[in-house]
Amino acid sequence: MTGFDELWRELLPIGRAADTGGYRRFSWTPDDVSGREWFASTAASLGLSVEVDRNGNQWAWWGAPGPDAVVTGSHLDSVPDGGAFDGPLGVVSSLAAVGALRARGTTLSRPLAVVNFVEEEGARFGLPCLGSRLLTGAVSPDRARELRDPAGVTWAAAMDAAGLDASGIGADPARLGLIGTFVELHVEQGRGLVESGSPVGVASAIWPHGRWRFEFAGEANHAGTTRLADRRDPMLTFASTVLGAREQAALAGALATFGRVSVEPNGTNAIASLVRAWLDSRAPDSASLERVVEAVTTLAAERGDRDGVKVTVTPESTTPVVEFNADLRDELSALVGGAPVLPTGAGHDAGVLSAHVPTAMLFVRNPTGVSHAPGEFATPDDCVLGVEALTTVLEHLATR
Ligand code: GLV
Ligand code: MN
Ligand code: MN
Ligand code: MN
Repeated sequence: MTGFDELWRELLPIGRAADTGGYRRFSWTPDDVSGREWFASTAASLGLSVEVDRNGNQWAWWGAPGPDAVVTGSHLDSVPDGGAFDGPLGVVSSLAAVGALRARGTTLSRPLAVVNFVEEEGARFGLPCLGSRLLTGAVSPDRARELRDPAGVTWAAAMDAAGLDASGIGADPARLGLIGTFVELHVEQGRGLVESGSPVGVASAIWPHGRWRFEFAGEANHAGTTRLADRRDPMLTFASTVLGAREQAALAGALATFGRVSVEPNGTNAIASLVRAWLDSRAPDSASLERVVEAVTTLAAERGDRDGVKVTVTPESTTPVVEFNADLRDELSALVGGAPVLPTGAGHDAGVLSAHVPTAMLFVRNPTGVSHAPGEFATPDDCVLGVEALTTVLEHLATR
């Protein structure tokens, strides 16, 4: 049997940047393709049959694909300089759990599959959970094909260059209809399980969240000769908006982050002409989320009027609140020893699927709570407990 440790060690070097120790595994890049090849060959060596769906998601089946399947898995792509665990822990744990069940000679009463979803982070093309959104029809194929990375490469061109055919992407009701239950294991991205003293937890809900592109258009001019009163400096409007977003989030008990920015022309001795920045905001309920984004938009426009800067705000993606299936949540919690049930502010393919099929998530304790950064961690002992919990859950679901 191939255990968790061995699989983890094989995957770990793929896409890790030597300078930061973080991961840059972006969809359809050579490192992503290497990760996909690793998934396919590992699944095949476990005796699973591997296929790629019309949207580029990889599926590894135990037995013939069929309806009412138990499906588990996660994603292998990362954010820029992301950690090792967000995504890969779920994929590796799924393969290890299936390996353990097969080694035990388990007889299934339902088909079982492991899935690797593409572009979960939206790090290259901007739209998170793109693989699961395409599968479920939550995004149109026309929009997806034309999504562009920062170099201007479209999703369609990148997918084609990786040897797949983007002409057939889009909603896949036949495949979606095969999923009877979906379970995603994921590293926790906070300290809830540290506080409750449990290695494994079960997700209750995902906060509603989204991404908005802010463009601040001013006027480039000389940094040494343009009087302050004569400037139309978009950086000023942007800076004020960042502070305003922080205040509005605090007032609403929500979160607001500007973590990505690009500046034109990006010269030390020139006033910027354009600042483009992305707001990521998340809140416990959709009314609070809307209030925060509206308030930040208004603050930006008012400040722009003072600065002579034109502000435009474009929503890029929104994800409604997710309440995971209560019966399945309670069943999983009881199965894994009364594991605590907790919400998260992070998005997942499980959230997208939960609108269509009974879906649950298992979280594995993260000692520091750090995520989307190289410090992301789970201890080897907790990883093994996560695999054991997932194995118990899959066995229970797929043999009843
Ligand atoms: C994805 O991990 C997200 O929640 O941003
Ligand atoms: Mn993530
Ligand atoms: Mn993830
Ligand atoms: Mn995620």
